[in-house]
Amino acid sequence: MRGKFITVEGPDGAGKTTQITRLSEHLMGQGKKVKVTREPGGTLLGEKLRDLLLFTENPVPEAEALIYAASRAQLVKNVILPALSEGYVVLCDRFVDSSLAYQGWARGLGIDEVLKINKWFLKECWPDLTILLDIDPEVSLKRLKGEKDRLEMENMEFHKKVRQGFLKVHKSFPDRIVIVDAAKSPEQIFSDILQAFDKRL
Ligand SMILES: Nc1ncnc2c1ncn2[C@@H]1O[C@H](COP(=O)(O)OP(=O)(O)O)[C@@H](O)[C@H]1O
Ligand SMILES: [Mg+2]
Repeated sequence: MRGKFITVEGPDGAGKTTQITRLSEHLMGQGKKVKVTREPGGTLLGEKLRDLLLFTENPVPEAEALIYAASRAQLVKNVILPALSEGYVVLCDRFVDSSLAYQGWARGLGIDEVLKINKWFLKECWPDLTILLDIDPEVSLKRLKGEKDRLEMENMEFHKKVRQGFLKVHKSFPDRIVIVDAAKSPEQIFSDILQAFDKRL
C-alpha cells in the first residue's frame, strides 16, 4: 500500500522544521512509519548540492532552478518513492512549490517554465497534501538566529515576492495546498495542520 507524501512549504523562519518535528512525533505516536526529509538535500548528492546552492556565488536563475531540480530528482527516486512503496508517511521540508515560488516567481523564470522541468521527473511523485505556512517575511526573518545563507540574505523585496509566489502557486493547486497562518503560536499552527490532515487525507 502506498504511504502518504506530505510537504511543508513557506519561507525561512515560518516554522517548517518546528511543525515537521511535532507532526512526525504525533504520527509515530499513532503507530505510523514516518520518514522525515528535506530539500535541497536528503541524499548525499543532494546535501552537496545544498551546500553549493546556499553558500557559494550566485548561480544564474536557470542554473539555480536546475540544481534544485537535480537535488529533487535524486531525492524522489532514491528516498521518497521507495519509502512510499513501503507504506511510510513521508514528511518533506520544502519541495517543488519552493522552486515555483523562488525561481519561478521571485527570480522571474516563470512558474510554468519551472513546473515543466519538474514535471519531467516528478510523474507519480506529487504530494498528497502540502501545508503552506504563510507569513509576512518581516516577521518570519526576525525569528532566525545565527549565520544567514545566500537566500536568507536577499532583500525584503525578494522575500515579499516569494510570499506572493507561494500564494500564486496555491491558486494553481487549491486542492493539494492548504494555507496555514504561520504568524500564530506553534500550538495554534499545529492544531490547524491537524485539522487540514483530517479534512484532506
Ligand atoms: N509560531 C511561531 N512563533 C514564533 N516563533 C516560532 C514559531 N515557530 C517557530 N518559531 C521559532 O522560529 C525559529 C524558526 O523556526 P523553524 O521551525 O526553524 O522555521 P523554518 O524551518 O521554517 O525555517 C526557531 O527559533 C523557532 O523556535
Ligand atoms: Mg527549517
